[in-house]
Amino acid sequence: MTLPAFVKIYEVGPRDGLQNEKQNIPTAIKIDLINRLSDTGLRYIEATSFVSPKAIPQLGDAAAVMHDINRKPDIHYPVLVPNMRGMEGALAANVTEIALFTAASETFTQKNINASIADSFERFAPVITAAKDNNIRVRGYVSCVLGCPYEGEIDPAKVAEVAKRLLEAGCYEISLGDTIGTGTPEKTKRMIRAVLDVGVPLEKIALHMHDTYGQALANIYAGLQMGVGTIDSSVAGLGGCPYAKGASGNVATEDVLYMLAGLGCETGIDLQKIIKTAWFISDALGKPPASKLAHAMKQQ
Ligand code: HMG
Ligand code: MG
Repeated sequence: MTLPAFVKIYEVGPRDGLQNEKQNIPTAIKIDLINRLSDTGLRYIEATSFVSPKAIPQLGDAAAVMHDINRKPDIHYPVLVPNMRGMEGALAANVTEIALFTAASETFTQKNINASIADSFERFAPVITAAKDNNIRVRGYVSCVLGCPYEGEIDPAKVAEVAKRLLEAGCYEISLGDTIGTGTPEKTKRMIRAVLDVGVPLEKIALHMHDTYGQALANIYAGLQMGVGTIDSSVAGLGGCPYAKGASGNVATEDVLYMLAGLGCETGIDLQKIIKTAWFISDALGKPPASKLAHAMKQQ
């Protein structure tokens, strides 16, 4: 199959990136980060999470962030929502898109959201109804698609089952998350094939690759070769889930953009501006960007 001519980049840095930082990050820095990302050509910027601040204290300022960012009309600013309580927060913040999240691993789901996979769908039902009533788009995440920090190997059939369920529940897109970054390209292809085989359309699949083992770009390339046209990434390679010990950052947005440019795939995003933003957030956090590209292209 030929590679997609246009690839949609779904930026997760302000959410996945900042949820995993140990230090306290001022709300003003988060807002500045999102506003800078809004000026790069990105059309999807996952801004924050309306989750329990006991679970993720880093994003306890979700309402303030959503209130004070400069929202551009052509940009979506989705937020993570785990339950009706979160949905109420999202509605009060006038969001236009939410992301639900569950997993292909029972143990991870239990640790992450204190529910079984089946119970996670029970919680989603009223959230999806509220979303429909308010004209809000719903995205769905499946975590642990290529491995679980507690259960190890995950059966692609389980990933497919959960992905299909999210689709049937009304999600417009299903993001397949290699939460701990242990996947490899052929394994990625097998997993995507299983998801396609149960009837999830190719154009509704996104890949969300963490780079713990340095395999994220290779796995994304494998997905592109199968025709996947939506990639989640995080500026400066920030990210990780506190409930997936040892999991490091997402694939860096700048690395994905560079690879896509080399492959001749359009994104509409300005790589130099992303690199500048990578340095902005890295300096604010007091640590260098994970991406070698961000270092190499800093002066250009
Ligand atoms: P629980 O303890 O079972 O919930 O947590 P609960 O209903 O019993 O509530 C406990 C307390 O939290 C109560 O407060 C609630 O009011 C409050 P208390 O009475 O004790 O003072 N609460 C909330 N507060 C604010 N917003 C809410 C909310 N809900 C309850 N929405 C719950 C269940 C789902 C809430 C919790 O486990 C949680 O918030 N988990 C979120 C975990 C999370 O955000 N993980 C990271 C995102 S997933 C990820 O990173 C993977 C991904 O990137 C893809 C990949 O890489 O694979 C997406
Ligand atoms: Mg993630």
